[in-house]
Amino acid sequence: MRPSLLSNLVVAVSAFAVSANKYKPCSLDGVDIIGRLPDTITPPMAHLTLSFVTAAIGTQNYTCSPNNNYTLVGAVAEVYDISCLAKSDEFTTVQDKLIGLWKSAPVGVTPHQVTSSSPETNANPLLGYHYFVPNPLGQPGNSPKWDFTSTGAFYGNEEAFVTAARFTGDTAPTGKQDIDWVGTNAIDPAGLLAAQVYRTDTREGQPPSECRSGESPDIQVKYACKYWFYGSAVPAESGWA
Ligand SMILES: *[C@@H]1O[C@H](CO)[C@@H](O)[C@H](O)[C@H]1NC(C)=O
Ligand SMILES: *[C@@H]1O[C@H](CO)[C@@H](O)[C@H](O)[C@H]1NC(C)=O
Repeated sequence: MRPSLLSNLVVAVSAFAVSANKYKPCSLDGVDIIGRLPDTITPPMAHLTLSFVTAAIGTQNYTCSPNNNYTLVGAVAEVYDISCLAKSDEFTTVQDKLIGLWKSAPVGVTPHQVTSSSPETNANPLLGYHYFVPNPLGQPGNSPKWDFTSTGAFYGNEEAFVTAARFTGDTAPTGKQDIDWVGTNAIDPAGLLAAQVYRTDTREGQPPSECRSGESPDIQVKYACKYWFYGSAVPAESGWA
């Protein structure tokens, strides 16, 4: 099982490299997060349009707090355009497919290798990365960032990122094992990738309920989700060249 998985991965990764430049996003006309959010979550601002719809896999990182529970210290994830799935049945289940592949991947297999190994997800190009940075306004703590500047269609466009802060959210409708659904507002004016970013369709990513302060190591918990980017001011023609 393992050797054939790995050789499939190698083939898939090379195929991806050749075809990446030819990718064109599919139209998002008629696709919206409205109607998919629970009533408890504030929807995106009405004047903003959906610029990107993506699927992501990665880890939520936690450290054991003095209260003997885990607190979030960051996350690292790869973000894939799924605009071409948006009007298909696969759109509903893409995060299930991804979390299944990701959780069963051997140690050392990267998120990119995981998505490339699946015919359903290999067609979806990598747009960028999600991770945390120090709060850009100088406030305490770290802030989530989505960065499309270093790979993919917006490679080299220094404005193709968004750093944001949560302003709305709720527990996942699918259960306690899944991280919250949230809405965030952009807080760094240098980043034009989106005005608002939403996280929905979360799968897993929660830490164990307890730990022992000073003894339990930091942990990374695998997760998958969708990220929705509203109100991009990064010109479409700067990408997909
Ligand atoms: C950790 O425990 C403290 C004290 O009981 C509580 O206030 C806090 O909300 C908990 N944090 C998490 C992430 O559960
Ligand atoms: C989170 O964990 C990943 C491994 O999945 C690691 O590469 C990254 O540096 C960690 N980031 C933080 C902020 O802990």
